[in-house]
Amino acid sequence: MLTFHTLRWIDESLELLDQRLLPVHCEYSRFHSAEAVAGAIRELIVRGAPAIGCAAAYGIAVEARRLREQSAAQFAAGLQQAFDLLGASRPTAVNLRWALDRMRSQLAGSAATDNSACADALLAAAHDIADEDVRINRTMGTHGAALLPDVCCVMTHCNAGALATAGHGTALGIIRSAASAGKKVEVIANETRPFLQGARLTAWELQQDGIPVTLIADSAAGYLMGRRNIDAVIVGADRVAANGDVANKIGTYMMAVLARRHGIPFYVACPLSTIDIDTPDGSAIPIEERDAGEVAGYGSLRWAPAGIRIANPVFDVTPAELVTALVTERGVLNSPSPSGIHELLYSR
Ligand code: MRU
Repeated sequence: MLTFHTLRWIDESLELLDQRLLPVHCEYSRFHSAEAVAGAIRELIVRGAPAIGCAAAYGIAVEARRLREQSAAQFAAGLQQAFDLLGASRPTAVNLRWALDRMRSQLAGSAATDNSACADALLAAAHDIADEDVRINRTMGTHGAALLPDVCCVMTHCNAGALATAGHGTALGIIRSAASAGKKVEVIANETRPFLQGARLTAWELQQDGIPVTLIADSAAGYLMGRRNIDAVIVGADRVAANGDVANKIGTYMMAVLARRHGIPFYVACPLSTIDIDTPDGSAIPIEERDAGEVAGYGSLRWAPAGIRIANPVFDVTPAELVTALVTERGVLNSPSPSGIHELLYSR
């Protein structure tokens, strides 16, 4: 049973756990407009591909409620603006676009109704997206848990947990499902420079659940892969291209190369909504570049010299050939390839 919620609808607003403050403070904030939700996504108050998709869906719902007393034309124009704003909030995770497309279809389906009925239908659609996310994560968890030995050690990178989804998590969902099935799972969490999602979020989340976790500096991963029995590396994904290339948090590619070097299976947990059939390969995935301050220091602390040139790409692409399997709600796809992905999406 989780001791927190990543996002929830309460008192006509979207409530988000402010992930910038974890693990020091566990504080929730409420958002009453699409603009505010887009800001929360941009500022990483909510983060993780499925969670930002859910937040964006609620961003449309909250805006529809805010605008429902206006004329039909103002309502439509305001929502159009909200879709544009939310769609532009972060570029790499395709779940954002996927969730907004679902909300757009709902809007088109409710076009003949009045603003209030339309706003209710949009809220119901946002609830469906969030509820479905948790169900999918549990199914994925069951498929992924079957890949793990009864006693195992798993390395993970970034946070692909309940905090990155509406609940249960993708990569951490597999670990949670394995632990609830009685497997003895120990986790090595990479700290995940520069924003420290591993140190601040994964370590906290697993600690809350009582799952044994050891935090390491990213640079210790190769050494430990050579010295310890690590049974699998499991990560989440922000976008999987049609050929199986995987965009995920910066540093994931390094872990995949190291895992291959050490003969450790490298699994990517991804709901089907993370697979982007319109993106042929990883080179076409837009990679977000964030503020230099995230590399130069943390919070108010600065350790890099003033004026230094900094690059801060926050995602990288792991080529499909380094991926042992994709774990999805429709099952496990070994050695992902264009034909395998096509079959997974359209014929299973
Ligand atoms: O920048 P973030 O924290 O949003 O990046 C998150 C990740 O890279 C996750 O691994 C990914 O979104 C999968 S979450 C289930």
